[in-house]
Amino acid sequence: MLCSEFAKASHTFKLLFQHKSIIQNHYLYNIDTSSTFRKYSSLTKSSGRWLERQRRDAFVKQAKIHGYRSRAAYKLLEINDKCGKFLEKSKIIIDLGAAPGSWSQVAVEKMKSNSKLITIDILDMETILSPENKNIKIIHLKGKFEESIPQIRSHLNEDEYADCLLSDMAPNTSGVKTLDHNRIIFLCNTAIDFAFEVLKPGGCLLMKIFSGSEDAILRNELKQYFEDVQFIKPASSRSESSETYVFAKGFKV
Ligand SMILES: C[S@@+](CC[C@H](N)C(=O)[O-])C[C@H]1O[C@@H](n2cnc3c(N)ncnc32)[C@H](O)[C@@H]1O
Repeated sequence: MLCSEFAKASHTFKLLFQHKSIIQNHYLYNIDTSSTFRKYSSLTKSSGRWLERQRRDAFVKQAKIHGYRSRAAYKLLEINDKCGKFLEKSKIIIDLGAAPGSWSQVAVEKMKSNSKLITIDILDMETILSPENKNIKIIHLKGKFEESIPQIRSHLNEDEYADCLLSDMAPNTSGVKTLDHNRIIFLCNTAIDFAFEVLKPGGCLLMKIFSGSEDAILRNELKQYFEDVQFIKPASSRSESSETYVFAKGFKV
């Protein structure tokens, strides 16, 4: 117990340092108005390209056919297959940054009967229903997950912990690679902190990152708290994107 308190305190300490460097980073990028303008005009062009790519994308078409709310469903399906079908083994899953809801759709398809899914997002999300024969309890919460920890915890009994924590969360991207990388790493570290509140020993954590210089530090950090850590780039994640997923299993708290 003392050990886990110490691990959590040292993790929080590292988090505070990282937050300071992100704020500095943000400040540096924002005072350079010419680069902000260049960034804005290239983003306008790139959003046109994004729309065109969406029209041609096979996973977007598949998602429509299968009734998934977004192509992201295929990322979770592939990771689940490659990482030992952890969804099927989970009785309690928490989906952080769940909207529009395709990961939650996949989760309820795969989870056991009479299990529980808690979703949270800053954005509104259309309700997810349990498959008729499964009686899955689904709780939707709205807000920043880091500000809603007591609320999330209140939907678990005192001795109840999640088997699996999912995070496909992404901060608003700026188009500046280093900044986006640092912001998502910060979000991941906050999710690791959250794991100490809600994840059961032996549980697993899946998180999205934008790959960059802090990857190795994140891997080492996770290795302190989990038995095994893997980085996975699913086929459905666009190759030109730095998006990658980190799957950590065997929570050692
Ligand atoms: C890529 S989307 C998730 C897609 C989802 N996995 C799906 O399959 O439909 C990322 C989501 O993370 C949410 N998000 C980002 N930061 C968050 C935070 N701090 N707390 C809660 N949600 C957050 C965003 O609002 C956004 O809806």
